[in-house]
Amino acid sequence: MKKLFEPAKFGALTLKNRIVMAPMTRNRATVTSIPTEVMAQYYSQRAEAGLIVVEGTSPAPEGVSYIRMPGIWSDEQIDGWAKVNRAITANDGLAVLQLMHGGRISSVHNKPYPGVRTVGPSAVLAAGEVWTDAAGMQQFDMPEALSSNEVQEAIIQYGVAAKNAIAAGFAGVEFHCTSGYLPMQFIGVNSNLRQDEYGGHLEGRLRFPIECMLSMANAIGAEKVGLRICPGNPFNDIDDPDPIATYTHLLKSITHLPWAYLHIMKSPLPNIDAFKLAKEHFSGAIILNDGFTPETAENALEAGLGDAVSFARSFIGNPDLVSRIRSGQALAKFDRKTLYTDGAKGYSDYPTFSG
Ligand SMILES: Cc1cc2nc3c(=O)[nH]c(=O)nc-3n(C[C@H](O)[C@H](O)[C@H](O)COP(=O)(O)O)c2cc1C
Repeated sequence: MKKLFEPAKFGALTLKNRIVMAPMTRNRATVTSIPTEVMAQYYSQRAEAGLIVVEGTSPAPEGVSYIRMPGIWSDEQIDGWAKVNRAITANDGLAVLQLMHGGRISSVHNKPYPGVRTVGPSAVLAAGEVWTDAAGMQQFDMPEALSSNEVQEAIIQYGVAAKNAIAAGFAGVEFHCTSGYLPMQFIGVNSNLRQDEYGGHLEGRLRFPIECMLSMANAIGAEKVGLRICPGNPFNDIDDPDPIATYTHLLKSITHLPWAYLHIMKSPLPNIDAFKLAKEHFSGAIILNDGFTPETAENALEAGLGDAVSFARSFIGNPDLVSRIRSGQALAKFDRKTLYTDGAKGYSDYPTFSG
């Protein structure tokens, strides 16, 4: 396990090792999207990671998809995140915040305040359901189509959220551009029926994610901004007929700036080698993800497929994952039933190997 333990410099980020904690929504914020004490504990316990990508966090009230999902638009939220970051840095950790606008993947029951709308590129319902504490499983809302002005506002909100993340002590942000949330809703041909410059042909459908990236780069510097993609991911009802063309175009369009990293997930489609596509079209640092074990991660770095590997599920039951990998200890399992429940149980109460 030599490669995984080498330090690295990704844009403005200095990692003490190449084991990254992947973002995981765990629904432990308040119902008004304010980070809590238990989140500070949970993340600080995992500060051995070379980089923690903190869970999907909304830049605006409309972007909240899930109940108790955190936000980064208010002073109270910035204060809450500052506490999380103080706990992480006290344990010598480094964190970036994943910015996630859920768009149409939402229910009014999960919004932080009454009257907050569910929005999308177009008024097209996504197939599927979402958990709400108020009314159990609910169909996704029919989204309201964002007006041209509102599209501009959403792009600006990403820049403001990035600034807020820095004010809260994060080293940078990661743009969540996968899993069927708002940026991917602009990319999908089924979810984006817009007639303006943010729809239609590929260039139009990619305009929103690209302008969001530029908005964040203008706000805090590209070297503090990472991008997460998963070419061909149909999750949350997205249809992209030509993912290779889409992501090649996306990466080529942003290559002029020195981004912190590209966080690339394996494609679910057998004909797409997402890691190869990343290498071909992205010149900065690459974080590989999805389904890695410590052994396959080390091999992938040895083979030069990327510069770091992220682990999600392995970090749930193993707060000391890095130590366990270093010393070859077995990895603990986790309880699925407490993945998204409130409070410390099944969240910040997993023991370290040494107890
Ligand atoms: C409980 C849970 C929550 C997740 N939440 C997010 C999220 O907020 N943002 C994101 O980009 N991916 C999210 N993912 C996906 C993970 O980051 C990761 O891509 C996936 O679990 C595969 O990595 P693994 O095999 O190491 O678990 C989540 C996964 C899990 C299991």
